[in-house]
Amino acid sequence: MRSFAGRDILSLKGFEREEYFRVFEVCDKLAPIARDRLNSDLLANKILVTAFYQPSTRTRLAHEAAMLRLGGRVTGFSDVRMTRAGDFYQESIKDTVHMLEYYGDVIVMRHFQQGAPAEAARWASVPVINAGDGWGEHPTQVLTDMYTIFKELGRLDGLHFLLVGDMRMRTMHSMSYAMAQFDIEATYIAPPEMSLTDEFKVEIDELNLRYREVEHIEQAIADADVIYMEPVVQPDYTKSRDERAGDVALTPANYQVTKKLMRGAKPDSIILHSLPRMDELLEEVDYTRHARYWVEAYNGVVMRMGLLALVLGAME
Ligand code: CP
Repeated sequence: MRSFAGRDILSLKGFEREEYFRVFEVCDKLAPIARDRLNSDLLANKILVTAFYQPSTRTRLAHEAAMLRLGGRVTGFSDVRMTRAGDFYQESIKDTVHMLEYYGDVIVMRHFQQGAPAEAARWASVPVINAGDGWGEHPTQVLTDMYTIFKELGRLDGLHFLLVGDMRMRTMHSMSYAMAQFDIEATYIAPPEMSLTDEFKVEIDELNLRYREVEHIEQAIADADVIYMEPVVQPDYTKSRDERAGDVALTPANYQVTKKLMRGAKPDSIILHSLPRMDELLEEVDYTRHARYWVEAYNGVVMRMGLLALVLGAME
C-alpha cells in the first residue's frame, strides 16, 4: 500500500480500496481520544494551517478540533477578506502558499475555485488537504461518510446508495469516486438542471460504477440501504461568499426526505447528510432510527484525526 506520509489529500479519484480500510483502521485507533474527550501528544510540535476562502462550520472546526485533540497547534484564516488574497492585492495561491508552508506542517484549504487546493499542492512543500473546492470535490467529507456507513452497517460492499440532491455538488463527485471502489450500486435523483453532467458520466463509466438515474424518489426509496443527501436550494459554490437575498425557494417534494417517505424505506436504511441543510431534510426525520447525520458529524473529527496522523507520518 502507498504511504500516506507527506501525501496531499486532494481527490478521491485514485484513492484505492485498501486505502479506505487503512484510514478506517487508524480512525478506530484514535476514536477513543475523541469519544472520551481526551487529549494526546501524538502531533505535539506540529502545526495545522487552515486557509478557508469560503465559509465553513464543520470542515474547518473538525480539522482544528482533531489537531488540538492530538496535541498539535492551529493557525490560519477563515475570512479571506482579512488577508492579502482577499483585498486589493488579490495575492495568488502560489504566493500565499509559499508563505503558509513556513507557518505550519500541513495546510487545509477550502476554496471557491475548483482545483485551487491542487494548485496549492504544486507550490507547497507540506501536505495540502482539500476541504472543498468549488463544485469540485470534498474528499475528507466523503471519507467521513464512508467511515460512518462502514461503522453503522458493518460493510460497504453489497450496498445500494440512493443519492438525492444537486449532483453538481462536490460531495456527490467524491462520493461517486468512492462508490466505484466498492461493490456499490448507485441511484441518482436530481432536478434536471442539477443532474449528472455528460462529462462526469464519462468519468464514472470509466470507473465501472453501476448506477442509474430515476425521476421520482418513490421509485427508489424501497431499495436503498444508504440515503445520501444534499440540498437542491443552495448557494453558488463558485463564489467566495453567497449572501441570501430575500426569500429562497422551497425544495420540491421529490427531493425531500420526510418521515412519511421513510415508511416506504428498508427498516435498517440510514440517512446521511453532510450539512448544512435547508428544507430537503425535515427535522422530524432527526428523531427516526434512520438518521445518522449527527454521528457523521462526530465522525468528522475522528476522520480528520486519522488523516492528520497519517499525512504527518505519526501513524504508518
Ligand atoms: N459538510 C460541510 O462541508 O460543512 P461546512 O460547509 O460547514 O464545512
